Formats: sequence, structure tokens, C-alpha cells
Amino acid sequence: MAARGDQGRRPILRGDYRPPAWLVDHVDLELELAAESTRVLAHLDVRRNPEALDREPLRLSGVELKTRRVLVDGQPLADRQRTMDGESMVIGGVPDVARITTEVEIHPERNTALEGLYAAGSSLLTQCEAEGFRKITWFPDRPDVMATFRVRLIADRARYPLLLSNGNQLESGELEDGRHYAVWEDPFPKPSYLFAVVAADLAVLEDHFTTRSGRQVALKVYSEPVNLHRLDHAMASLKRAMAWDEERWGLEYDLDVYHIIATHDFNMGAMENKSLNIFNARYVLADPDTATDADYEAVEAVIGHEYFHNWTGNRVTCRDWFQLTLKEGLTVFRDQEFTADLRSRAVKRIADVATLMARQFPEDAGPMAHSVRPERYIEINNFYTATVYEKGAEVVRMYQTLLGREGFRRGLDLYFERHDGQAVTCDDFLAAMADANDRDLTQFARWYAQVGTPRLEMTTDYDHERGHYILRFRQSLSAHPDNEQRGPLMVPVKIGFLGPDNQPLPVTRVGEDGEGAETRLLVLTNVDAEFRFDQLPPDALPSVLRDFSAPVRLDYDWSDEQLARLAGHDPDPFSRWQAMRRLAERVLTAAIEAGARLPDAVELLIAAWKAVLEDETLDPALAAELLSLPSEAELAQQRDPVDVDCIHESRKALLMRLSQVLEPVLRARYLACRDGAAWSDSPEAVGRRALSNLILNLMLDGQCEAADGLAVDHYESADNMTDRMGALKALVHGRVGAADRALRGFEDRYRDDPLVMDKWFAVQASVAGADAVRRIEALMAHPAFSLKNPNKVRALLGTFGLHNPTGFHAADGSGYALMGRVIRELDGINPQVAARLATVFNRWQAYGAERAGRMRGELEAIADKKGLSPDVEEIVKAALR
Ligand code: PHE
Ligand code: ZN
Repeated sequence: MAARGDQGRRPILRGDYRPPAWLVDHVDLELELAAESTRVLAHLDVRRNPEALDREPLRLSGVELKTRRVLVDGQPLADRQRTMDGESMVIGGVPDVARITTEVEIHPERNTALEGLYAAGSSLLTQCEAEGFRKITWFPDRPDVMATFRVRLIADRARYPLLLSNGNQLESGELEDGRHYAVWEDPFPKPSYLFAVVAADLAVLEDHFTTRSGRQVALKVYSEPVNLHRLDHAMASLKRAMAWDEERWGLEYDLDVYHIIATHDFNMGAMENKSLNIFNARYVLADPDTATDADYEAVEAVIGHEYFHNWTGNRVTCRDWFQLTLKEGLTVFRDQEFTADLRSRAVKRIADVATLMARQFPEDAGPMAHSVRPERYIEINNFYTATVYEKGAEVVRMYQTLLGREGFRRGLDLYFERHDGQAVTCDDFLAAMADANDRDLTQFARWYAQVGTPRLEMTTDYDHERGHYILRFRQSLSAHPDNEQRGPLMVPVKIGFLGPDNQPLPVTRVGEDGEGAETRLLVLTNVDAEFRFDQLPPDALPSVLRDFSAPVRLDYDWSDEQLARLAGHDPDPFSRWQAMRRLAERVLTAAIEAGARLPDAVELLIAAWKAVLEDETLDPALAAELLSLPSEAELAQQRDPVDVDCIHESRKALLMRLSQVLEPVLRARYLACRDGAAWSDSPEAVGRRALSNLILNLMLDGQCEAADGLAVDHYESADNMTDRMGALKALVHGRVGAADRALRGFEDRYRDDPLVMDKWFAVQASVAGADAVRRIEALMAHPAFSLKNPNKVRALLGTFGLHNPTGFHAADGSGYALMGRVIRELDGINPQVAARLATVFNRWQAYGAERAGRMRGELEAIADKKGLSPDVEEIVKAALR
């Protein structure tokens, strides 16, 4: 048996890539499935890779496999022909074309890591990305080895009536002893990480989709029978995704069947296995009674995301795991565009950038900072990050910004034309974009290599002699060893100007004829860049980085008044939001520095809020975005040392002031939003729920008169989960007397519903204050909680660590001690989830000597754990460095 968890694994380097010495053309698998023990018989048709650099022996990866037999062309191997090297079995003397046969035994029921073949409830499921296939059978488990698969599944018919794998079903039938079998064949060569198997007893919702060229595709969405009635939204989302991919990109589905399986036991969001997607149930199940509007949108987006992978990921895949952003950045970009086209583009863009800033910016500034295409890793599972995904999507978006929509489409078409059926690199993607548009993108490639969030410093000037308005930019990269000697980036910057009356001004570059558009694209290529404009008044107000045209931090010293003007009048909705954020950040920063006393600038923020609240023409969903304040965690990011309690008090003081001064306006807008509140999923209704729940929470934060009663009414009259949760949060966070009863009622109603109970855990985990630690401990003992279930860990401990600074950073260190204990225990259960949780300690140094000392102590205690997983080890060692 190959062991895992040997401490001190050496990093794998991008520069060490070598083409595979051996290829596998075809795989024949037979799985005799049972939860206690599954037998896997594999036949691999292997041959030497003509493109290999050396004549190396055949290497197969395997982890935790009980190996029964290894044969080469039907002949058992002599012992000296096979040696072990870490996770690899090295077989010497294999003919250049051969058939390798292995038989192994694995134990799904004991597999708590949820990688490989595992038991999830009464089902057996696989998760192979990134390197889980080696926990199922011996294989050259790397994405540039692509094979066709034929899979024969055998299992007890009563326990597992459903037997699925990738591709089309060829055969099925009865066997003796109550068993049955099914044979599946996937005609598309694929890397092993896209392999999947399901053996289960599930209910199914069926529908079909006819592709543009007339292919009839059977669509099947599965869940446990009690949730069958919650699958309609997932199915509708899938059909919308299929239609959108045809319309927007000309991409059609390529098989006759598409399966989606919902499970409650899943490490991530979902997985794009060819034709057999496996999903975290939270991204499948939805009905108004149990799912919020945000859940509805997330289901649609993740279903879209996994479907879009069929082209960007499966038909064209990654050569090696360093190229992960090739499929993930591109597919996130595609799912963002899907949502933007179907819903509000403005709200979607703001929400995406807000997420990037909240989750990716800290990663860029933290101990695990890496480029979107990392240079090295110890455990690849640690690199499924906001950087690779969300910043990667920003990099893809910049191509579109630079090349235009049509140019980008030409590039994507060429990418598919060149690389369909191949495993390729980010350089190949860039080359397709460049060649299709006859553009030199050499400089653009630096976006794949640079680490950290680049900074743009802007200054303005006016050349009175010539009547030129001047914008100057200086760009810089963060201080990181990987950035040394790296030249300037190519940065697309969208800009515009407002006149003294706040009207947008046409923008004309010096030397251009005619009147320019109100938003213009500038492309920065040097460290220092200067742009001159004609026909602008000296007091024109610059609006810069519209639409967040590049993932950078922009510094310019707008006055408070100017920010308020942009917040009220910028025609670009993202820039309005950005200006509002900057203004709120200024007010909060000043308050934090003055011991929670609000500065005078708060009056400008109040006026800006009032204007938003009173603007009845504004989309309420957009209004809700404009009125969202930076979280305590985001405020903490920008401070060193971090004064946890003062941040909390300052934010509270601001909420209090805003809600008290604006109370009549808030109340009026609240009531207007609640008018005719019967549930509907129209964008209008969704927006009104978003805004009314935001206002309700504000009024409780501000202890407005009779707000408690309003929240109780809101809770009791709710006919949907968005309102129920919105009101529950207001009650619980407002520490209102009625909160306990509401929590108990909620628990009674939903105790058997794991997804809804996640919400119940999360809402309590985020209640501020040092008593949070005891509450978390009590909730961990709740029968619905389990450390084995990743959703529960995220809901309770993830929320506590990331969204409850005053609780987690309790001065006595009890939050740290709790988290440390959990991580050490979880490491033995599920290293991937434990590693993610361990990132809560990343910024330990910034919290003052006392807290820093305690956090370091926890990190060291984790690092010292015997048999610590490489996953957690990589994270804590980076934090301690
Ligand atoms: N590839 C999946 C996605 O982004 C994410 C994932 C990674 C799921 C690893 C499971 C394991 O869609
Ligand atoms: Zn993905």
C-alpha cells in the first residue's frame, strides 16, 4: 500500500514539466462496487509517447490501493520488474505497445477525504480532480494523458439500482445473487480527472434539449427522492446554459445524455466530469421555501459553469495542473457572462468585483500569494483558489476588453479550431487570441506570471497653455521574489469624465478629430504613462477604471466631495459602486483612527445614501449593492495592526448613524419594497427582497424604533427563504428577544433539511462578540453538525473564522484554540477541507503581539501534528514563514 502524508514533500515546479513518457489510448475498467470494499480491474492500452524526451520506464500512480495483481500483456510481473517510488509504481521492461492489467481493492466507506471513490449517504460516488483517480486504480494520473474509457459496473441491484459512468450506456442486465451490471463508453478521449462513477438509489427529473444541429440530448437531474420536487430550477438552468452557449459562442453539446447528480457530501461546489456532473446539493436543489434568491442565482451560475466546462476544460483540457486557470479562469468568465446576459449586467459585475476584492485581494497579499498560473505547488488541491478562478477570469475578461467582443470571439474560435481534443497551456490560449487578431500580446503574458495585486497611481494635471487635460499613471507590482525583473504590464483602463453639472463629457484624445465617446479605453504599456485630452474643462472630474477594466488597485486622491459626486452620477454602475465604497471606507478608516468617532465626511455619505434610497427609478438590486458597506474583515485587510474591536465599534457607529438619520427614508423605501410581496422570481421581486432585507437589517443595527416588531412580522409573514433568512439574521444579529424563539421555530421546521440547517448554523456563527466561542462549541455538539460533512464545516467554522472577527479573535485566544483543535482533528478526516480552514490564520502577524503569539502557537501546534497532511502542512508552513 502506498502511503500518503509523508511530511516535507518537495514542491513540484512548473519548469520541470516533461511530456509523458507513456500514453494510454484506451482504458477498460470493471468495478465491482460495494461500500465496504470495491474491486477494480483495469486494462490499460499503453504505448510509448513518440514525443517523450527520454526512454523512461512506465510509471503508474496509486494511493491507498490494495494491489492484487499486476500483469503486462497477460503475464504476471516478476518482483524486480516493479519498484515503488513515492506514489508511483515503476514498471521496467514493458514493450513499446502493451496492455497493463491491474486488480486492486479499495474501501469507499472508510474514505472520509471525499476524493477517489467514496460513500455519500447511501450512494457511492467518485471525485477525481485533481489527483483522485490514483485512489481508484493504478494510472498515469496526469491531465495530458487522454484515453477513451469503457466501464463495466457491477453492484447489488436493490442497494444501487442506478449505475452511471461517463458517455453512453452500451449494455445493462441482471447477474446472479441480486446483482446487476451496466456498461458505459465515453467516445471522447479524456484525462483521468474527468472520470466518474455513480452507484446509487436516487430519484430523477428528466427532460431533453435539442441542439442547434438537431441532436436530441436527454437531460437527467438526480437527487434523493425527498428532494425530487426541488430540481426544476436546476433543469431550467441547464437548458438555459445549453441555449446560451450556442447563441453566444456557437458551442453545442456533443453527447446524447447529460447527467447531474446532487450530493450532500462534496468538498467543492461541483465537478464537470464528462456527461456526469457531480454537484454539491446546494448548487442543485432550490424551491422558494428552502432556497434564497442568492441560492437560485448560484444554482444557475454553477450549473452553467459545469456545463460550459464541456468545451472549456473537457474538449480542450489542461496540459498540467499549473495551467488550471486555462479552464477555470475561462469558465468562470463564461459563467459570469451567462449570468450578466440573463440577469442584470450591472449588478453581476459589481457582485463579481466585490467578491474578488473580498476574497482574492487578501490572497494576493497573504503568505500563499501566487500568480494565476502558479510556478510551484506542494499540494495542487491548495491551488483551487480565488486567484486561479476569479483573478483568472479577470485576465480572460481583459482580452475581451482589449480585443473587443468580436475579436475575443475570433480568438476563442481559433483556440477551439486548433486545440479541440488536446491538453494545452495558457500560452496556447494567448497565441490563439493574438493570432486571430493579428496582435502582439507578448507583454500581456505577464499577467499570468506576476504575483499580487498591481498598483496604479494616478495624478491629474492641466496644461493651460495648450488646453490639455492630463492623466498620468504609474504602475507597480507587489514586492515578491517572483516579480523581480518583471517589466510593466499591459493594463486596459476605461475612463470618462463628469462636468461641473455632473453630466458625462465626451472624451477626445489630443490629435483626434470629432467628438469622442463618454467612456474610452486607455491601454497602459509602460511603467509611466501620460494621456492628454482636448476640450475638457480643468475641473472635469475623472472617473477611472470603469467596469473594473483591470484587476488592480487604483490610487488617486479624489476629494470626499468628488467621490460623492461619482457615487451619485457616474454613468458606469460599477464606478458608482466603487466611489460609494471608497467614501464609506474613508469614513470608516477615519472613525477607526479616532476610536470609533465618525468624521464630518459622514454627512456626504448620508446624503449619497439618501439619494439612492429616494431614487425610485433605480433598480432595487443595484441600490442594495450601492448601500452595502465593506465588512469588518475587509476593513481589517487594510490595517496593520488590526484593532478588531475598534473596527467593529466604528462600523456599528456608522450603521447606527446612517439608520437613525435616514430612518424615515429607510422606512418608506422598506414599505414600498414590501408592497405586494407575494413570492415571485421576477428580477423586480428579487431586487425588492434584496433591498427590503438590507434595510430591515440596518434598522435593527440602528436600533430604530419598533424595528424589532418589523423584523418579527417580516419573519412570521415570510413565504420564502429569502425573507425568512433576512429577518432571522436581523433578529439574531440584533440580539432581539424574539431571536431565540425564531431560531427554535426554524430548527423545528428544517431539522431534517441539511442545506437549510447550514444557514441556521451560519447565521449563529457570525454573531459578533467573545461569547461566540461558546456558542460555536455548543453548535458543534448539535445532532445536525458533523465534522465529516464539508458543508457543515464551512457553515459553522468557516463562517466563524472568516465572518466573525470579534468572536474568532476573542482576546483570550479561545477562538484560536477552538479553530486549532478543529483543524487538527479535521486533518485526519478531510485534509482538503482542513487546509482551507487553516487559511483563517494567514494574517496572524497583523493582530498585535498578544494575539499574534497565540495564533502562531496554534499554527505551530498544527505543524507539529504527527502524520499531518501535505495539504495542511503547505498552508501552515507558508503562514509561519
Ligand atoms: N473543477 C471544479 C469546477 O471548478 C472544481 C473542483 C475541483 C471540484 C476539484 C472538485 C474537486 O467546476
Ligand atoms: Zn470550474
